[in-house]
Amino acid sequence: MTGFRQLVVVSLLLAFCEVCRPCSVVNWRHKSVAEQAAEAKIIVYGTVRAHYPMPDVPIENAYVAEMDVTCNLKGEVLPARINISEAGELTSCHHTLLPIGGAFITFLERDASSQLVPDEVNYLSVAFPPTTENAYGVGKAVGDLAEKCPQLHSQIGDYTGGDNSAAIGKPGPLICFVAVLIATMMN
Ligand SMILES: *[C@@H]1O[C@H](CO)[C@@H](O)[C@H](O)[C@H]1NC(C)=O
Repeated sequence: MTGFRQLVVVSLLLAFCEVCRPCSVVNWRHKSVAEQAAEAKIIVYGTVRAHYPMPDVPIENAYVAEMDVTCNLKGEVLPARINISEAGELTSCHHTLLPIGGAFITFLERDASSQLVPDEVNYLSVAFPPTTENAYGVGKAVGDLAEKCPQLHSQIGDYTGGDNSAAIGKPGPLICFVAVLIATMMN
């Protein structure tokens, strides 16, 4: 590979790593799903049915996610269909991806103009797939899951294993590692 091509590849990888790098927060620490759920203002479980562009914010990977609400788990009781603004990838600290067709337990709050937006309580994505661990953790925080959301409660069964789900881990370092590995292999 010529020096120039190498330079281009390395620059692209660096730019990519800049994007995928997790946000850095002073004194950040891991929090379990239950700890995060305890801090969240509104929690719903639902299915994403559509995406719309963000009206005033021309960020390519950010969108309004329209969700059919299956259960209201915490905070204000929301209508059966809601729009979640600022979904997708806004910044490295603000990235709750809500792909169409996906079912998620998600944490929300109202922004200054009273629109629903993700409540990223620990600077990580708050789109939790309805895994046993996630349902268990959220249930622990909100209580009465059997009554509030039988669909999620049935997910738990007799599970008592805790809720430090690996699903909420930061993807950044792994992606950067893979990028660096590819760069090394190309040399
Ligand atoms: C969500 O926003 C879109 C685009 O503005 C609109 O067409 C849709 O009716 C809204 N849905 C809800 C549930 O408010």
